[in-house]
Amino acid sequence: MAATVVSLLLLTSSLWMAEQPPPALKDAFKGSFLIGAALNPGEFTERNVRDAALVKGQFDSISPENVLKWQSVHPAPDRYDFDLSDQYVAFGEKNHMFVVGHTLVWHQQTPKWVFEDAKGNPVDRETLLKRMQEHIQTVVGRYKGRVNSWDVVNEALNEDGTLRQTPWMKILGEEYLVKAFEFAHEADPKADLQYNDYSLENEAKRNGAIHLIKTLRAQGVPVTGVGLQGHYGMEWPSVDQVDAAISAFAKLGVKVMITELDVDVLPSAMQYHAADISANLELRPKLNPYANGLPDSVQQTLARRYADLFGVFLKHRGELTRVTFWGVTDASSWLNNWPVRGRTNYPLLFDREGRPKPAFDAVIKAASEASAGK
Ligand code: G3I
Repeated sequence: MAATVVSLLLLTSSLWMAEQPPPALKDAFKGSFLIGAALNPGEFTERNVRDAALVKGQFDSISPENVLKWQSVHPAPDRYDFDLSDQYVAFGEKNHMFVVGHTLVWHQQTPKWVFEDAKGNPVDRETLLKRMQEHIQTVVGRYKGRVNSWDVVNEALNEDGTLRQTPWMKILGEEYLVKAFEFAHEADPKADLQYNDYSLENEAKRNGAIHLIKTLRAQGVPVTGVGLQGHYGMEWPSVDQVDAAISAFAKLGVKVMITELDVDVLPSAMQYHAADISANLELRPKLNPYANGLPDSVQQTLARRYADLFGVFLKHRGELTRVTFWGVTDASSWLNNWPVRGRTNYPLLFDREGRPKPAFDAVIKAASEASAGK
């Protein structure tokens, strides 16, 4: 009899547990930093009902994965297309989220016409500056007071910390950075404006970024933050590198944020870790070892990796303002298609069915331990 009562109780409690929605990331980190996700159109138009619900339940900040890039929003000189970006911003507002704009000045996903004249020759300085100004005024101006924070310049640095020779740099020189921030500030004086890049945990690039931000701020250029993209692997960067990078940027007196977090679990197809999308190697089966599921041992290693990373983020909770994941579920991550197309990657906290993974539990646990002062 007693045994029957006990098993009934166990059954009831497991049913009850099964019905409990997972705790929300945004609640677990309230008071520490915002928790964001980069969204695709299916999510912010709510066509993807399941993932839209996940976003609303879990996150209090959103970033547009692609729809606010130059190529999407301003495909031709005299044509803007705000259809998707308007829906993106409206979704954030409706759900009282912190809305990020990504990105104004980049060398990728910017149409060729921006840098060329009618004959296909590079434009002169004055023309390019005018185009940049008009683009920023139009896009930032449209969402003035509604987009809270802009990635103004994206990925301007080489791995050694020098400035990349992009078309912006070749035609305008270093002043392109100054102007981009000034135009954005003129268009929305209240918006946060950040410099955003990957691999800033590596010392040479980190020092380049520190030099850049210091130089800009010394000239009065309105850079208010730095975004560490956070495209990480299972081993790189070490937690010490992440720790050192956050400390170094916080010392500059700017807001520091993790803007594009994910952890690549697949074998490296490259010599280095970088988010340079121009690489697209051939698909080879040995590079796609988990096509039929992630072994439990790797799942647990990923959970520990996330726990370690959030341990560092929480240590810096007074300095970090936001941690944003680059995607919502493993199914929609760009890492399934880069640097090799058609792989099965597992970089986020929610699996392909939108269910929380052990890495999710590890992150929630890190938050509750930090708030308990452990
Ligand atoms: O929309 C087209 C679709 O019509 C077409 O059928 C399909 C065929 O390949 O391509 C689709 O466009 C793709 C687009 O993502 C939307 O899915 C592009 O090929 C693909 O190149 C593009 O990749 C994006 C990448 O930036 C390109 O710059 C990724 O989604 C996006 O996650 C990634 O994000 C960048 C950040 O902006 C900056 N930091 C690095 C990060 C990762 O690369």
